[in-house]
Amino acid sequence: MAIKDLSNTKISILKALSTGNFVSGEKLGEELGISRAAIAKHVKGLSAFGIDVFSVSGKGYKLAESLSLLDSDKIVDLYKGKTSLEVHSVIDSTNQYLMDKIRSNETITDGHTVVAECQLKGRGRRGRAWVSPFGSHVYLSRYYKSYEGLGEISGLSLAIGIAITQALNDSFGIQTQLKWPNDILHNGKKLAGVLVEAEGQSDGICHLIVGIGLNINMPREVSSLIDQPWVDLAEISGGIIDRNELIGALLHSLDLVMSEFTVNKLQHLHKTWNTLNAFKDCMVDVTSGTNVKKGKCIGIDESGALLLEDSHTGVRTKVFGGEVSVRKAK
Ligand code: BTN
Repeated sequence: MAIKDLSNTKISILKALSTGNFVSGEKLGEELGISRAAIAKHVKGLSAFGIDVFSVSGKGYKLAESLSLLDSDKIVDLYKGKTSLEVHSVIDSTNQYLMDKIRSNETITDGHTVVAECQLKGRGRRGRAWVSPFGSHVYLSRYYKSYEGLGEISGLSLAIGIAITQALNDSFGIQTQLKWPNDILHNGKKLAGVLVEAEGQSDGICHLIVGIGLNINMPREVSSLIDQPWVDLAEISGGIIDRNELIGALLHSLDLVMSEFTVNKLQHLHKTWNTLNAFKDCMVDVTSGTNVKKGKCIGIDESGALLLEDSHTGVRTKVFGGEVSVRKAK
C-alpha cells in the first residue's frame, strides 16, 4: 500500500519537513544520500503539486505549515476494521479512479477505499470542480456493489451524510448539520460534500462510488477559488485534526451506516437525518435548472425526498434528488 505518483525522494523530503521546522539542504542530502543540488531540484519540483517550500539561506527549507501525510498503516490501525485501501499522493479524482476500474471490469472488493493527498481534477456535484490542494483535506472514495439498481443513489448519499456527521461527533466532538441533498454544514457554512456516482442497471447489479470531500485546513492561496461559504476543521476545532484519524473514524462510521442502509434503506435513518436538518422549518428556495420552488423545509421522508410545505395552504410537496440546490429564502 505504497504512496503513488510523487517520487519517493520527494515524499521523503516532505516527511523530513513535515514538522514545519527548518531543515538544511545538507542534512536532507545526507539523510537521502543525494547531493544538495539534487535536493534543490526536488524541492522546486514540489511546487508543481501546489506545495510551497520556503528556502532561506543559512537555514534551509521549511514548509509553509506543518503537514501530516496520509499513512495507510495508521489508517487501517485506527479503523480497526478490515478494508482494502489505496493511498495516492496525486490522482485526477478518486471517484474517477474507481469509475475507470469499474468500466474496465476489474474486480473490486466491496468497501475498497481510495484516498489521495491531492486531486488534479476533483469534482463536485452539478459539474463543479472540487478544490483539492495537496495534504490539506480528505479526498476519499469508497466502492460498494448493489443488487438493487441505480434508484438507490439518492437515498445512499443522505445516509452517507449521516455517517460523516456521526464520525465527526463521536470521534472529535464536532457538531455538524445536513443540508439536503449532499452537504455537511457547520454554522451554515459548507464543511464537506458527498458525490455518489454509479454505473450499472436500473434494477439489477450496479456499482456505487461514494466520494467524500472534507475540508481540514484550507490553504489561503486556493480559498478564493471557492464560490460558496465554507469552513474547515482547523477553524472549527482551533487545531489540526489528523487526517489519518479522521479517515479511520469515517470508515468505521460508514460501515455502521451502510449495514443499516443495506437492510432497511432510510426507513429508520430518515429520522436521524431529520434531527440533523440544517434548514428545519426554514423557508427555502429549491432550484432545479431555471425552476425555483419555495416552501418551508420540513425534512425528508423514508424515500429520501425533501418535504416542502406551502406557507399559505399547508400543502406538502415532495422534491426528489438530482441536480437540485437548496438555499435559505431571502
Ligand atoms: C459536492 O459538490 O459537495 C461533492 C464534493 C465531493 C468531492 C469528493 S473528493 C473525493 C471524491 N473525488 C472527487 O472527484 N470528488 C469526490
